[in-house]
Amino acid sequence: MRGLQLAGSTVLLTGASGGLGRAIARALHARGARVLLNGRNTEVLEETAAELGERAEVLALDLAEPGAALTLAERAGSVDALVANAGLPASGSVEDFTHEQIDRAIDVNLRVPIQLTRALLPGMIERGHGHLLYVSSLSGKVASIRSCIYSATKFGLRGFASGVREDLHGTGVGVTVVFPSFIADVGMYAETGVKLPRGVSLISAEQAAAAVIRGIEQGRGEIDVAPLSLRAGVLVSSVAPKTTARLQRRLGSDRIAAEMADAQRHKR
Ligand SMILES: NC(=O)c1ccc[n+]([C@@H]2O[C@H](COP(=O)([O-])OP(=O)(O)OC[C@H]3O[C@@H](n4cnc5c(N)ncnc54)[C@H](OP(=O)(O)O)[C@@H]3O)[C@@H](O)[C@H]2O)c1
Repeated sequence: MRGLQLAGSTVLLTGASGGLGRAIARALHARGARVLLNGRNTEVLEETAAELGERAEVLALDLAEPGAALTLAERAGSVDALVANAGLPASGSVEDFTHEQIDRAIDVNLRVPIQLTRALLPGMIERGHGHLLYVSSLSGKVASIRSCIYSATKFGLRGFASGVREDLHGTGVGVTVVFPSFIADVGMYAETGVKLPRGVSLISAEQAAAAVIRGIEQGRGEIDVAPLSLRAGVLVSSVAPKTTARLQRRLGSDRIAAEMADAQRHKR
């Protein structure tokens, strides 16, 4: 898979008002891309655009609204790369969610990236170049307690991207999925203030943003951005899922997940 040169390209970034999104916006812009910033919080989006200066535009839109993906793609126009980063934490047990909250999580985390892909892809194929990048999570590889809806959407992104990558073989359009672990400084985990078990280290938003850049420019298929211990956990889980689940329980995953779901309830 060929990579895409970011200098001089136009990138549509969703979730640009969030913790990781702002770091991705800065990294894309620093590589010379023109960035189209999507989110709902116009104030933060405008502030980010002003910080970046030239080559940054705000396209504010609520992606949970019906037809929003198509509207956003039309407003964006000709786009060389999509970075589908918008996401809801969707933490908690399934019976804790209303039906509307479940729909919203699936819409923002999974349906919109698929619909944006459908809308932007014909132009990329016609031009013979382009890149699709999806921000999943380590929870898109290993599920844990009180993350079933989040994991369903994040596993879904991986499945979708893997299939699309095969469909696009030889077209000049690349597909990357980035799988970050917990981010320390900003974003949906940091905002909760919940402490992880001792020994579980965190990554920075800049590390995750750097993986986005690598994914696009080097045409990488999948990139895990996580400390060694968690990457090893993913590997072990693929062959011994019960053992990793037992270990997670022993490390207090139940209490941590309950605290996290409480702290993230307002984002459902
Ligand atoms: N933080 C972590 O530890 C972590 C770890 C692994 C993966 N991730 C993934 O990284 C991505 C970014 O997460 P983050 O930590 O930066 O979270 P965040 O700070 O909560 O930001 C979420 C972003 O998604 C946007 N969004 C949510 N609902 C939307 C809607 N209905 N319409 C339009 N935009 C919407 C938000 O926009 P507004 O605020 O403007 O509404 C915001 O820009 C997510 O996909 C997340 O799953 C995060």
